[in-house]
Amino acid sequence: MNRFDLSGKVAIVTGASTGLGKGMSLGLAEAGADLVLVDYVSSAETAEEIKAMDRKAITIVADLMNIGPIQSIVNETIRTFGKVDVLVNNAGIIRRTPAIDFSEKDWDDVMAINSKTVFFFCQAVARDMMKRKYGKIINISSLLAFQGGIFVPSYAASKGAVAQVTKALANEWAQHGITINAIAPGYMATNNTKALREDPVRSKTILDRIPAGRWGTPDDLKGPVMFLASQASDYLNGHVLVVDGGWMAR
Ligand SMILES: NC(=O)c1ccc[n+]([C@@H]2O[C@H](COP(=O)([O-])OP(=O)(O)OC[C@H]3O[C@@H](n4cnc5c(N)ncnc54)[C@H](O)[C@@H]3O)[C@@H](O)[C@H]2O)c1
Repeated sequence: MNRFDLSGKVAIVTGASTGLGKGMSLGLAEAGADLVLVDYVSSAETAEEIKAMDRKAITIVADLMNIGPIQSIVNETIRTFGKVDVLVNNAGIIRRTPAIDFSEKDWDDVMAINSKTVFFFCQAVARDMMKRKYGKIINISSLLAFQGGIFVPSYAASKGAVAQVTKALANEWAQHGITINAIAPGYMATNNTKALREDPVRSKTILDRIPAGRWGTPDDLKGPVMFLASQASDYLNGHVLVVDGGWMAR
């Protein structure tokens, strides 16, 4: 099991206050990593749970709607822990409106945080990872990298971009000892899907198609993120790992 051990590794997770980001942060800590928890609201609760496992955790409040704070987050991580081993680009938003009425703001906001920030965060950590010829980047994409979705055109575009950027960077940075992979979660019970779960028609249609017979939970991403953050996945690069209870198999 040593291949999955993250003791001594330092991981940055964005959007770590709640939902999938919180779940993945706890998973990385369970595997031994110390954490830098980034969010535009406080991630104190996540930090407390990590410290209770005898791991270190610092919290940084930053608005990732623009790329301004990225370099200072990386600098603070290096000041505190000396390096960045793992980045989980998880912070993201969704806006739901029929395409015919979709606004420029809902296009630009979603593209900004879900794809532009993801690329420039990868670039900022890669500059440190290249020095040590080691790094693991995990970008959170979506099933909507493969499917179009309904009423979420900018979200589908942004998550397709995440999958493609992941492949593009793998091509360039594998030679530097960096692996860049993506997780495409299926339908997970978090704030992101609250509107869907509260709509009895959409909720039933979705659930009927999930072979596992249930929505996913933040815990369901712990194993996949541990795997992609550890040596166990050293020869995996540019992959988009679907974690969806079987949805795509249907
Ligand atoms: N829930 C799902 O079914 C699902 C499916 C596929 C992909 N995803 C993706 O997983 C990721 C996590 O989503 P979630 O489901 O946990 O939703 P969520 O809304 O619970 O979590 C999103 C996180 O991002 C943070 N965030 C939002 N705007 C921010 C900003 N401007 N600056 C910094 N942080 C910000 C939030 O505070 C929160 O911690 C997102 O990228 C989402 O698109 C979710």
